[in-house]
Amino acid sequence: MSVTFKGCYTVKPMEPTWCGRLALSEWDQTGIITHVPTMYFYRPSGDSSTIAATLRDSLSRILVPFYPLAGRLQWTDENNGRLELECNAMGVKFIEAESSLTLDDLGDFSPCSEYQHLTPSVDYTLPIHEWPLFLVQLTRFACGGVCISLQFSHAVGDGPSALHFISEWARLTRGEPLQTMPFLDRKVLHAGEPPLMKANQGDRGFKLPSLLLDKKEEKHRTEKKKKNSLATLKVSKSQVEKLRKEANASLDGSNNGRGYTRYETITGHMWRSACKARRHIHDQPTLLGVSVDARRRMQPPLPKGYFGNASFDVVATGVAGDLVSKPLGYASGRIREAIEKVNDEYVRSEIEFLKGQRDLKKFQDLHAIRSEDGDFFGDPNLCVVSWLALPIYGVDFGWGKEVFMGPGTHDSDGDSLLLPGPDGDGSLLIPICLQEIHMEAFKKHFYEGIM
Ligand code: COA
Repeated sequence: MSVTFKGCYTVKPMEPTWCGRLALSEWDQTGIITHVPTMYFYRPSGDSSTIAATLRDSLSRILVPFYPLAGRLQWTDENNGRLELECNAMGVKFIEAESSLTLDDLGDFSPCSEYQHLTPSVDYTLPIHEWPLFLVQLTRFACGGVCISLQFSHAVGDGPSALHFISEWARLTRGEPLQTMPFLDRKVLHAGEPPLMKANQGDRGFKLPSLLLDKKEEKHRTEKKKKNSLATLKVSKSQVEKLRKEANASLDGSNNGRGYTRYETITGHMWRSACKARRHIHDQPTLLGVSVDARRRMQPPLPKGYFGNASFDVVATGVAGDLVSKPLGYASGRIREAIEKVNDEYVRSEIEFLKGQRDLKKFQDLHAIRSEDGDFFGDPNLCVVSWLALPIYGVDFGWGKEVFMGPGTHDSDGDSLLLPGPDGDGSLLIPICLQEIHMEAFKKHFYEGIM
């Protein structure tokens, strides 16, 4: 893709903001501490020449209430992987670019490696205190269309926080006041506090890489080096309902008759399809990673607008042979069991567990990336993150809603998302990354399994 860079700016908060070190919760400092991309494409009506200046101005204003995003991460002690957020108004990065292509040249906007030219890149070889925590690339296309591509630091906030920020930025850009102030004090998740008790060493979430290595350890290490490919699977409303009926067929009274949700159903089907595509042996253990938003599962619920990480990672476990041979409801049931674990007590005990760890590095994606050890998930595991309830569509900066919103390039083997279809017709989209050698078989098993 032909993209020419026109300028790179640092955007700082428009007014003075609080300066100092903000304690991060254990959950902010573990899992993905790098950035998460999202992309929005627009066909603005009228003059689009002022878009860059308008966005830079509103970004500078929204960074006043959301000032942690203009700061920098700091190791408090790099040897044990502990981080703080230095609120120092260093600013975020804003890149302007042009492409000779038109939006029509991008077809159905399916994710492809070419998207990397539209996405602001972060150099993870630089010291952590040099990374901007939010990056924007505005690319103008020959047809007048634009792409706003974002990279949001996952150490600063999870999906709900990122979408909160993006929605408020759009609101401010189109001249409306803030709807919900961010709640910035992470002490509600015990940020900066010493551990209360000796941690329970039981079964943990998928942040524990030791769980990822199993019987197939050697094969796993070799296979991690294989090439990945991306695809977006589309599932119609009737296909979703068909699968849901199949999953619910094996429900018994123990579930109080509560039918499986779309997430539990589709994710169960994806897990089974991945086991088949990867041709696992019968007793191959496999994990399915789920990100659970704990904001309303805590007692009391977290304050409205909590800005940070409150999506907790849990794993459903299974053996490939059981998942494949038993009815779909079995896989959905394993996933439900994992999700139902997440309550106030669970969250607090996870935090205590991490507080009790001398070194957090092994729970951070950055070190896997730097060591080229490969993907954080990967064969024989899968991770399906739900964006079903996030306000991902209708992000209007004042020139109309997006024509397409997508997750950008998620390029780790086993990493996938579940999104609502953009037309509100009940269909779903599944952007997924798998090793190239497994992708076609995965699609085949996925769609044949719905027939
Ligand atoms: N708007 C519309 N529908 C909603 C909703 C919302 N805000 N919240 C829940 N629902 C619907 C769900 O779609 C589901 O309906 P369905 O059965 O027709 O699909 C039902 O209410 C139950 O939803 P939920 O209790 O959330 O269960 P789930 O199985 O759909 O999802 C989780 C399970 C764990 C994925 C989900 O609870 C969750 O935590 N999602 C947030 C994940 C997250 O934080 N993602 C970003 C990570 S960085």
